[in-house]
Amino acid sequence: MHLHGVTGSAGATPWLEEELAAHVKAFLDAFGAGQRPRVFFSPGRVNLFGAHLDYNGGPVMPTAIDRGTFLAVRRRRDRRVRLASTLDGASFDFQLDSLPGEPLGSWVDYPLGVLTDLGLLAGQRACGIEVLFGGNLPIGAGLSSSASICVGMAYLLDHLWELGLETLERVRAALRAERGFVGVHCGIMDPFAVGLARPGHLLWLDCRDESWTHLPLDFESVSIGVADTGVRRELAQGEFNLRVAECNEAFDKLRDDVPDALCLRDVPMEVLEARQAELAPSIARRAEHVLAEVARAFAARDALLAGDVAQMGALMTRTHCSLRELFEVSCEELDVLVDAAEESEGAFGARLTGAGFGGCVVMLLRRGAEEGVLELVSARFAERFGRRPTIELFGGDEGPREIRGG
Ligand code: GLA
Repeated sequence: MHLHGVTGSAGATPWLEEELAAHVKAFLDAFGAGQRPRVFFSPGRVNLFGAHLDYNGGPVMPTAIDRGTFLAVRRRRDRRVRLASTLDGASFDFQLDSLPGEPLGSWVDYPLGVLTDLGLLAGQRACGIEVLFGGNLPIGAGLSSSASICVGMAYLLDHLWELGLETLERVRAALRAERGFVGVHCGIMDPFAVGLARPGHLLWLDCRDESWTHLPLDFESVSIGVADTGVRRELAQGEFNLRVAECNEAFDKLRDDVPDALCLRDVPMEVLEARQAELAPSIARRAEHVLAEVARAFAARDALLAGDVAQMGALMTRTHCSLRELFEVSCEELDVLVDAAEESEGAFGARLTGAGFGGCVVMLLRRGAEEGVLELVSARFAERFGRRPTIELFGGDEGPREIRGG
């Protein structure tokens, strides 16, 4: 079990310095000695409320975490782009004037999508680059490694090519890359959570009109723990797109009764109850989750503003039950972790984070009681599955930035 220091913000802690030094060395090994690279950091996120609401126009409450992507970069004099990752041996070589128009079916599609998007904007101003991706964020674990890479890449290109973009323009470039180039039907939550990060705060983002505000979370009394099941589902992206389609189907069927409705979030629960029988049972369950989760997100915001973390935690655990029973995106490994957290004194609540189908559970913990909870959760998981999950405490983060000059 790793227990990194818990802080409200990401300082240059010793372990980070070590990881950074290793990343710079890996960069020089990959691209050759010479000028040292600049290094950028882009965080991941956990979402505490608003599960599967972003693409239904609902409110969400994520927060960035002090784990993320390292992007080490060096300029080139020509227009060649070389991209590599510490996570696999693959490397890619492109020319800015003839980038592949189609995704390649690899991790590189995420940065390539951003490169294509912002390359159009930069035109001949764009210089070639070599970039090594890496960092300390588990991939495909529900901590938004993809938005971390995409927003980080937008930040890096903005700075290297001197595009002068606003935060939201970088966020939108990341979103276009993920939706338009990679082809995930994702909502807006993840790139917004990464791009608009503020330490010690949750982001309250209304996905219907894209308005947001930051809400303080008292890191003196709570901490955020994340337990990774280690389960990664190959089919998760397809399952995710299927949930999006199911919610769209529910909205298509129910919207006649609500003329002003723009999205499923706008459909009152009474309308769903009255017309439930006309929907396929699974579609009705998806809609019920969405509408109840909207109410829970507002209740969680009220609890947060009232300083009632116990109530927030209870709502989180209810969200998990709904994701398990109604939205059907949980799995046994996630459920065992949530049940164990519920059993322990020091956890206010827990739920799966991200899309589901494996990945991580996020836990809201009483500050000072973390060790006991993590021991119990780890033990319960080991009793059932014969192995220990990775459990860490995460601090907040201030968002994409340069962390080492060249
Ligand atoms: C994934 C998507 C997000 C959001 C969550 C579920 O992380 O990328 O847009 O839909 O699932 O809340």
